[in-house]
Amino acid sequence: MKKEILKILKNNKEYVSGQELCKGLGVSRTAVWKVMNQLKEEGYEIESVSKKGYKLLDKPDILSREEIESQMDTEVFGKKVVYFDEIDSTNIYAKKLGEEMDSHGILVVADRQIQGKGRRGRDWDSPKGSGVWMTLVLKPGIKPADASMITLVAGLSVCKAIQKLYGANCLIKWPNDIVINGKKICGILTEMSTEFDYINHLVVGIGININTMEFPEELKLTATSIEKECGSRVLRSELIAAIMKEFELNYNIFMETCDLEGLMKDYNKYLVSINKEVVIIEAGQKYEAIALGINKNGELRIRTKDGEEKNVFSGEVSVRGIYGYI
Ligand code: BTN
Repeated sequence: MKKEILKILKNNKEYVSGQELCKGLGVSRTAVWKVMNQLKEEGYEIESVSKKGYKLLDKPDILSREEIESQMDTEVFGKKVVYFDEIDSTNIYAKKLGEEMDSHGILVVADRQIQGKGRRGRDWDSPKGSGVWMTLVLKPGIKPADASMITLVAGLSVCKAIQKLYGANCLIKWPNDIVINGKKICGILTEMSTEFDYINHLVVGIGININTMEFPEELKLTATSIEKECGSRVLRSELIAAIMKEFELNYNIFMETCDLEGLMKDYNKYLVSINKEVVIIEAGQKYEAIALGINKNGELRIRTKDGEEKNVFSGEVSVRGIYGYI
């Protein structure tokens, strides 16, 4: 009921009467009153005026299962949220959920991770209240070899959601880092469990820096946050819901062909290095090339200095801009 009340309060700029709430939800006045008190305790600013009802004065940046679910406007993705104030890693938890039958679309969110994981075995710093740390469980019924494309679908979705909400010039560093003004704001870690030649489940972990203003020395040149770059106030639950909406939409397009045929044009529009010089680091060797965009398999098409065009696969190479991170 808390989720429904939150939804109603958010969708109404004016007062909502207690009677309306009771009637609409089929509950008693005391029950409504109790929920209002709970919400106030959690930090929501709710004004209650006799004979008028209740009004939400401000939208605070609160995370809870009800808050996130009340924002969600999807069919499947994130319809069910599992929320933790603190957890080791949302990916670790999501992988346990993945073992269960009906876990497709469940979203695990935490306010803080104490063992956040990055790619290539790195740690992912995930302090309380400063980012979106979430993992979506998927059971896509595709071949393991095609799974890396879902990470690209996720990256495109994060990028579009951030652009739409904050008007930020948010771009993709192939394969799946999201950058603003040349610095990383988001990383994605996809892990899968396979059985013979099919995917049992896949977890897509998304970490977004929201309001960190100072980064440790070793990250200063490469990392940033949405609020630092855009100055906009971010409500994490709103951003999470917007990402799930985009992700679900793009995932459905992907599933029609099981490749990026329907999305690569869009992806290439957001590619930070498109038509720019990049350095390819492949099996310990470095060479310069021009990035031409991704193909329908999610590989990066490049043109080398001697005019040869070829595709590089994300598992095998690392791409850098010639002047640094992007
Ligand atoms: C990267 O190295 O760029 C990937 C970082 C992925 C971090 C996210 S935060 C939510 C999820 N849980 C984790 O432990 N990692 C991912």
